[in-house]
Amino acid sequence: MPTVYITGGATGIGAATVRKFATHGFDVAVFDINGEDVAKISAEIDTGSVHFFATDVRNRQAVRTSIAAAGEKLGAPDALFVNAGVQKLQGIFEMEDADIDLIIDVNLKGTLYTVAEAAALMRDAGKGGTIVLMASDQALVGKEGSIVYGATKAGVAQMAKSLALALSAHKIRVNAVCPATVKTPLTDHVFSWLADKHFDGDVNAAWAAEAQMLPIGRVAEPDEIAEVVFFLSQPTSSFMTGALVPIDGGLTAQ
Ligand SMILES: NC(=O)c1ccc[n+]([C@@H]2O[C@H](COP(=O)([O-])OP(=O)(O)OC[C@H]3O[C@@H](n4cnc5c(N)ncnc54)[C@H](O)[C@@H]3O)[C@@H](O)[C@H]2O)c1
Repeated sequence: MPTVYITGGATGIGAATVRKFATHGFDVAVFDINGEDVAKISAEIDTGSVHFFATDVRNRQAVRTSIAAAGEKLGAPDALFVNAGVQKLQGIFEMEDADIDLIIDVNLKGTLYTVAEAAALMRDAGKGGTIVLMASDQALVGKEGSIVYGATKAGVAQMAKSLALALSAHKIRVNAVCPATVKTPLTDHVFSWLADKHFDGDVNAAWAAEAQMLPIGRVAEPDEIAEVVFFLSQPTSSFMTGALVPIDGGLTAQ
């Protein structure tokens, strides 16, 4: 049975990806701080193939311990999806130190810690594999109130390229996905911030404006991102490495 390791698999895009892999014959190791929602997914799928490892990706030792435990239980991963991330919108004149640290620690350092530990298992197993990093459209374009977040996602995108070079010798391919707005718990926060700032608190109006901004005329569903992550984790994408893949309804084509 092939194995995938997924960080941030409890809700949103990560949860959709857990479902996708689990229903396609993978053992899925989920690394997250939210065990409750992972337990719900596991019960819903009911194949016994979803395994939870409580992990705060900001803590390098915690990542090391959890990935070692997953390696013991399931073996080295065939695929890794580094997805855990947080967003907190803030204007340049209102940034709180704690928020800056949180966003950098989860999105950037968490990604680095996870790849370092999981890629070492893959290298030692000697069977190659795939890594998909979660960047964002904000690796490619700026957005209001998203200064720190955008910087971390541009960092993750750059990391994908350098990792692709570093890991090719081990037959490990590394790509990053760059989704535009997807309906998840993360964007609930974003749109209540935007609604307060520009739409007199009307969250529906904020969502409608976002949909209108995308050439395709709507935001994405988590499953639409999971499909691309799955493709990048399969032999069908065998000549892809170091790519930044927009999944953005045409946003960056403009
Ligand atoms: N929703 C969007 O529009 C969008 C667009 C582009 C990129 N992304 C990225 O997709 C990823 C998933 O976000 P989402 O939109 O599904 O939101 P989400 O909030 O539903 O998912 C984030 C996941 O990360 C986990 N997480 C948060 N902090 C963690 C920590 N310290 N350690 C371990 N796990 C932690 C959460 O528990 C959750 O399962 C993020 O990296 C986000 O930046 C989202």
